[in-house]
Amino acid sequence: MYEDRIRCHSLRDKVTSAAEAALAIHDGMRVGASGFTRAGDAKAVPLALAERARQEGKPLRITLMTGASLGHDVDRALTEAHVLERRLPFQVDKTLRDAINRGEVMFVDQHLSETVEMLRANQLGKLDVAIIEAVAITESGGIVPTTSVGNSASFAILADKVIVEINLAQPLALEGLHDIWIPGLRPNREPLPLVYPRDRVGTPAIEIPHEKIAAIVITDKPDSPSTVLPADAETSLIAGHLIEFFQHEVAHGRMPRRLPPLQAGIGTIANAVLAGFVDAPFDEFEIYSEVLQDSTFDLLDAGKVTFASGASITLSAARQAQVFGELERYRSRLVLRPQEVSNHPEVIRRLGLIALNTALEFDIYGNVNSTHVGGTHMMNGIGGSGDFSRNASCAIFATKSTAKGGCVSSVVPMVPHCDHNEHDVDVVVTEQGLADLRGLAPRERATLIIQNCVHPQYRELLRDYYRDALRSGGQTPHRLEEAFAWHARLRDTGSMLPAAQAAA
Ligand code: COA
Repeated sequence: MYEDRIRCHSLRDKVTSAAEAALAIHDGMRVGASGFTRAGDAKAVPLALAERARQEGKPLRITLMTGASLGHDVDRALTEAHVLERRLPFQVDKTLRDAINRGEVMFVDQHLSETVEMLRANQLGKLDVAIIEAVAITESGGIVPTTSVGNSASFAILADKVIVEINLAQPLALEGLHDIWIPGLRPNREPLPLVYPRDRVGTPAIEIPHEKIAAIVITDKPDSPSTVLPADAETSLIAGHLIEFFQHEVAHGRMPRRLPPLQAGIGTIANAVLAGFVDAPFDEFEIYSEVLQDSTFDLLDAGKVTFASGASITLSAARQAQVFGELERYRSRLVLRPQEVSNHPEVIRRLGLIALNTALEFDIYGNVNSTHVGGTHMMNGIGGSGDFSRNASCAIFATKSTAKGGCVSSVVPMVPHCDHNEHDVDVVVTEQGLADLRGLAPRERATLIIQNCVHPQYRELLRDYYRDALRSGGQTPHRLEEAFAWHARLRDTGSMLPAAQAAA
């Protein structure tokens, strides 16, 4: 049944059950598993490990590294079985998030381009086992990944032992879509030879000595579908503001008519905003991003995007069926890369990327919080947003102006946790409007952000705060006693609005 999938004959006798393969993982080990935004994740062995931990009832605690988030409730199952001692670099699971926020799992929130760089430099300890989902193993023992590359290649190269999950539900047609390029050691590393998003600079499979493959498990579950919501009135307004901004940039000669390559972050907002570009007057642009979501395929189908480079393909159930059923239609216009290449500062700077990511909140000076609700509680992690925004030619952060039914303003006096500071943020946009912060000093930024981006319910409150702050003077005026008063009020009353206004 899987002869066309395990083409290296000598490896066929490594086929075993997930439970048997999971026996290679012991208490205290560091494990690297494939998976990036629910795509191409190892689906059987981590669950078998959770089951074993539950049954044995003795400590089985590991450090789990992945590309990014996992599907199939793997993080939930591992959390409930108390298997996760330490987790990095990203997650989106509610059960795990709660355990992180209770201090039960040590979560290391990292720039996604940096995890394997740190592993390679021996800054995170030795990797014991890698678990990699694959569509096939080639004649020479090369591992062909599925719907994500993420950190899989470096995990396989750096681990002592590799377990491969051959997933029969993933189409063999994925073979050939990947471009695996691994950097040399520092400090005399060669430059990354990628000049155009469509360039192929590596190999189509992960090449490791096949003796390292300790076990092969056969699975047949598709990826968990993405959970992003469709565009709504507010995301359409955000898309409209951005399209107008880009038209303005082109008209003033600051952007070419054929836009620079685009990156769009995870989540509902970025996906919906990108989907809004289907009707925009821009053609033949490219995507150089991390996650290729439904919107990428909307734009490919509409002939707007000519090529898309990413680290994973994460789609809704309907789009999965269509895209993976017709991969030949997209093959020449897609490539999947390791996340240290998709998110590489050198390439992002060279391409002059436009980076569009989502904020939880930003402040009147353009500092952005993407990760910590209320400044303390982890949401998902910084993901690749810092990799992209720090190095893009235009770093844009979008959010709806309010959250939680209007009880939360997404524009605040001071962010209580800062992922992207004012030096890295060029444009902020909400459904209310857009603020182009480039070349503006903090006082100019505050005036523009309050005028353009804040929900009317909060605009006067923020003006009052800023007026008061000006009395204290400074390059970046603040009333330190009041800077987090909105967050404290939210914590204490459930709303950032003062009691009288909330009741009105
Ligand atoms: N305070 C508290 N909660 C907030 C909030 C705020 N200021 N702003 C948004 N939220 C909540 C929403 O209410 C929603 O909660 P729910 O899941 O209970 O409904 C949740 O955050 C998601 O917000 P949503 O508006 O649906 O946006 P999203 O799906 O686009 O996600 C982020 C927004 C910021 C959480 C998400 O983009 C993220 O994790 N970003 C960091 C990683 C990243 O940017 N990677 C990009 C590189 S690919």
